[in-house]
Amino acid sequence: MRELLAIMLRRDGFDVVAAESRTQAAAVLARGPVDLIVTDVKLPDGDGIEILRHVKAAAPETVVIVMTAFGSTETAVAALKLGAYDYLIKPFDVDELKIVVRNALERQQLQQENLLLKAEFRTQHGLDRIVGVSPAMGAVFNLVRSVAGTASTVLISGESGTGKELVAKAIHALSPRKDAPFVSVNCAAVPENLLESELFGHMKGAFTDAHQNKKGLFEAAHRGTLFLDEVGETPLSMQVKLLRALQEKKIRRVGATEETEVDVRLVAATNRPLETLLREGKLREDLFYRLNVIPIHLPPLRARREDIPLLAESFLRRFSQEMGKNVVKISTEAMHRLSRHAWPGNVRELENVIERAVALETHEAVLAERLPEALLADGAGALAPAAAAPAIGDGFNLDEHLRTIELDLVRKALEQEGWSRTEASRRLGVTPRSLRYLMRKHGLSDPPISDKN
Ligand SMILES: Nc1ncnc2c1ncn2[C@@H]1O[C@H](COP(=O)(O)OP(=O)(O)OP(=O)(O)O)[C@@H](O)[C@H]1O
Ligand SMILES: [Mg+2]
Repeated sequence: MRELLAIMLRRDGFDVVAAESRTQAAAVLARGPVDLIVTDVKLPDGDGIEILRHVKAAAPETVVIVMTAFGSTETAVAALKLGAYDYLIKPFDVDELKIVVRNALERQQLQQENLLLKAEFRTQHGLDRIVGVSPAMGAVFNLVRSVAGTASTVLISGESGTGKELVAKAIHALSPRKDAPFVSVNCAAVPENLLESELFGHMKGAFTDAHQNKKGLFEAAHRGTLFLDEVGETPLSMQVKLLRALQEKKIRRVGATEETEVDVRLVAATNRPLETLLREGKLREDLFYRLNVIPIHLPPLRARREDIPLLAESFLRRFSQEMGKNVVKISTEAMHRLSRHAWPGNVRELENVIERAVALETHEAVLAERLPEALLADGAGALAPAAAAPAIGDGFNLDEHLRTIELDLVRKALEQEGWSRTEASRRLGVTPRSLRYLMRKHGLSDPPISDKN
């Protein structure tokens, strides 16, 4: 019967391993993971229920179907209680078994993919979430669209906060793999000795803490996309294994003797220039060429300033809505400052600045005062234009606003004239005496010459 079932199931495309005893089954299970087990209750050297118990403890995701003899309903019920997916009462039709097997595997797949989450993921991570009008981002959009449909490995580079993960998710969401998982792993965050088991999984007993069989991230991403973040931080020893997995499309769990086939699309990211990683010998050249099939570079925000206003406004809308506030615009002066800032933390920094500003803002427009010190101090050149259109409404103070404009203009004139009062006063159209008064009023001393007024 075992041989017959194996033949019939193989004929339907299943990969079948037959074991004729409990001991043999244990040996098979120790070699590598299996998706589903069909076992009789009575075995020459023991009990199928023991196999069930063992498997449910070691690899709970494995589906177990139990065959029982007619009239032993109690055993069947016990099996179900122990986590068996279903039971078949002998004698049964092979077709009946096939249906149960197929349904079980389908359900297992569904559970793993968690379709609901996936649907949500799609709407959240398509291209529409990536904001950008610069030619550089236009090129990125085109690349994402054209590589999404392929199975090619993509390597995304760019400084921290430029949107690498966002782009990786968009590639997945636009790909035929969109209904399978997008699995992300930060190679820099996983301790070196755990990385292999994290990526490839392990068998129970492979090392001291391996109390159960565990699926690795490659297997979790089966048919989907695996995002390897900060790939340049992967230890060299792991890079060899990674390369092998990519080339062979197979992985071996730590402690397993069998390999498991995996169908995974790899997207990798690095925030350090690849050339540097290669030069420093931190990235193996062969892995680099394997990963770098399609490179996508995200330029720093300071190199695409035309994206700043649009990004700022989209973050404003999002946070305002999330916080239930009615902040609907960004004052001209605040926008001016945002546009001039160097953004070392790129889009993430901008996102944080807007979040903070919306949280603090009590008006309907974000005022420059709500921006962090660093932005306000951003070069004395970044001054408010006199024509700044403030938002007039609750809390607006005309005197305060005029004072800010006055201070900005006085300081600008002094700076532009190298703190020469005569020249600055001419520029401002006031007498030197008035200028002296204005400087005192605004606490402006002129550092270059210690001229006490
Ligand atoms: N073009 C963009 N449009 C909208 N949001 C963006 C854009 N780029 C980045 N973001 C947002 O900025 C934040 C940082 O982006 P992300 O995490 O993708 O950056 P990263 O390049 O992976 O950074 P790190 O190297 O630090 O991991 C995220 O909240 C992301 O949603
Ligand atoms: Mg990231």
